[in-house]
Amino acid sequence: MNVLLIGSGGREHALAWKIRQSPQLGKLHAVPGSAAMKSLAECHAIAVDDFEKIHACCLAKKIELVVVGPEAPLAKGISDFLSAKGVKVFGPSQKGAMLEASKQFAKEFMGRNSIPTASFTILYSAEFAREKIKENKKYPVVIKADGLAAGKGVRICANEEEALSAVSDFMEKRIFGSAGSKVVMEEFLTGREASVLALVDGKSFLMLPVARDHKRLKDGDQGPNTGGMGAVAPVEISAPDLEIIKNEILQRFVDGVKKEQIPFCGVVFAGIMFTPDGPKVLEFNCRFGDPETQAIMPLLRGDLLSLLKACADGKLAGKELELNGQACVSVGLAAGGYPENPEKGKEITGLYKVPAGALVFHAGTEKKDDGYVTSGGRVLSVTAAGASLEEARKSAYAAVSKIHFEGMQYRKDIGL
Ligand code: AMP
Ligand code: GLY
Repeated sequence: MNVLLIGSGGREHALAWKIRQSPQLGKLHAVPGSAAMKSLAECHAIAVDDFEKIHACCLAKKIELVVVGPEAPLAKGISDFLSAKGVKVFGPSQKGAMLEASKQFAKEFMGRNSIPTASFTILYSAEFAREKIKENKKYPVVIKADGLAAGKGVRICANEEEALSAVSDFMEKRIFGSAGSKVVMEEFLTGREASVLALVDGKSFLMLPVARDHKRLKDGDQGPNTGGMGAVAPVEISAPDLEIIKNEILQRFVDGVKKEQIPFCGVVFAGIMFTPDGPKVLEFNCRFGDPETQAIMPLLRGDLLSLLKACADGKLAGKELELNGQACVSVGLAAGGYPENPEKGKEITGLYKVPAGALVFHAGTEKKDDGYVTSGGRVLSVTAAGASLEEARKSAYAAVSKIHFEGMQYRKDIGL
């Protein structure tokens, strides 16, 4: 089977690495891919939202399955576009992607389908928002921009003043453009968080090992929010919590998309908080997580590609996940200045000294001469699996210690 993978980050590098192990794979292609992915896939310099060119590439390369990494092309309807032309896609329809792209849509979907989540009010205008905030007596309160805001559209507001200023920033100053045309005001929840990912074929689901992202820049969850500074998997879940996740979150999700006729073949990624009242959904994403995928892929023993294909064929029911029983730690190496102003073009040294067994997934690098230079905020996901989380942690950090670039930032407490 010839496969086309869409995307260019650390998540896609990890997916390419895993898909390449499949006995079912013919040739792997990537759009646009990355310098580091060139050893795994034939990369094509096409924009991820140029659907016509992607379709032409599918025809020319006899692609039998397209696997979509990032949310932007999904939210723009790549799955609908290619499916209508007879190309099989692992990645949900535009309507399915709205479960990530619109918080209002997601919250109302959860409401209709009795999926546990924080209570909420949709605020349609700044004036209405101010009224509702003045009526609100409970702080902190959470204010969220409705649309995609690169993970920055959520504010935990300690008092009325902060809530009003979030509304003004999102809805009037439009700091995230049209993403702030509507706002969700939400009950503040407390508890540990985890990322629950499951493969979905539209009717059934297959849960992947639960992972945990580390979103803050600095050790001890301090500093600004980032795209993710590292991840671990699996995260231990109590049996009662696991029951709720499977029966009240994932099952109700697939029942909901089926009932509401939302074509959804792909990954549902539920950001979960383990509150004193049980697990609740903070958000849905409609794709693999980054950096969660880097920590999950090394735990899969079986053939990922056959599962992705089963999803696209609507034949996921009865399939099982084979795991290798290990634990995995993925440490993100970020550029100096990240997240505000990442420095680029810094030479990366020591990659060849990384011990065999560790995996270095590239998120933001370019080839220069014989080596690599940095080209993005998140640069590398340095990953290792081991018999225990502690062993995986040791191996991952042993690998990190070999790598260097000017300004390199990373957390020392991933998996602690
Ligand atoms: P989201 O983009 O909705 O996942 O929100 C980003 C982050 O904001 C989450 O990972 C949580 O840490 C925090 N957050 C979101 N919603 C809530 C909530 N209702 N209560 C407390 N924290 C929240
Ligand atoms: N790691 C969070 C995300 O992929 O959205």
